[in-house]
Amino acid sequence: MREGRGAGAGKVILLGEHAVVYGVPAIAAGLDRGAQATARESDEPSTLRLGGRLVRADASADDELARAFAALLAVHPLASAVAVEASSELPPGGGLGSSAALGVAIARALEGLHEVDADGERVAARATAWESVFHGNPSGIDATAALRGGCFVYRRDEGARSLRLAADLWLCIGKSGPGASTRAMVESVARLFARRPEQQRSTLEAVLSLVKNAELALEAGDLTGLGRLMDLNQMLLAGLMVSTEPIERMCALARESGALGAKLTGAGGGGAVVALCASQRAGALELTDADAASAAERILAAWRASGFDGLVARVRRSEPQESP
Ligand code: PMV
Repeated sequence: MREGRGAGAGKVILLGEHAVVYGVPAIAAGLDRGAQATARESDEPSTLRLGGRLVRADASADDELARAFAALLAVHPLASAVAVEASSELPPGGGLGSSAALGVAIARALEGLHEVDADGERVAARATAWESVFHGNPSGIDATAALRGGCFVYRRDEGARSLRLAADLWLCIGKSGPGASTRAMVESVARLFARRPEQQRSTLEAVLSLVKNAELALEAGDLTGLGRLMDLNQMLLAGLMVSTEPIERMCALARESGALGAKLTGAGGGGAVVALCASQRAGALELTDADAASAAERILAAWRASGFDGLVARVRRSEPQESP
């Protein structure tokens, strides 16, 4: 029996979530963990097994998972039905792009089954159809990260542009509590903007300038500057009412434990927090990996002592380019 396999990366948004829905650029980094899927041809109607659940593709089901699977399959109908098994190492609804990573992994497994280019437009179209069921109005940043990994600037109307990182980023990513629905959080920001157009204008302008500065900071290896910009982004997100008391506590704990900056990542309302660890001395001299890892451990220990779980993710600097 033929089999196709696929994987998709999780992501963390360093700056610009929510504003990205309105066309402002955001900066994201792919994580070295994500989702995997295997697809086999089947004589039965198409099914998806995810964790302990088994759903049949059904465009009119109440179950979002069944509808999302049907939407993903419908982009380019397959010659035969499929049985797909998928799993994710990312917490669902945690702001780490778990659903997009799954969509990309499943789409790649389907393309793998039919031996077509696994990075083609079809994978992106399938993943977007899948995401639309969960998100309503996704900017596409999650699906882009799941497809390409690395660190990039993303703009809704222009897509992604890679960033060349001058220094490794050591990130602590923790869970503040159960994640809220991305769709609900995006809708609540839309209602706020409809009531307060002036806040919409000023917030989007402010995020735009933070993102532009963060791009320069990343490319120059200015981690202290990047951390400050993340803190400022968090203030703006709190102004959009997408932060919560546990998110604010986690950010404060991280900063008190030496983080250069901390903010929610993803849709907010719960879910994930990202803290930038100190991995440099003043003067941009990099610390050893062991020193950076122990800086990260201090933050995780402070979170654990207050009942929050977390993990360390490392985003590696770009290799210097060969001169032509
Ligand atoms: O919570 P996540 O990982 O799905 O991230 C959502 C990011 C938003 O900007 C809030 C929505 C979007 O589609 O870009």
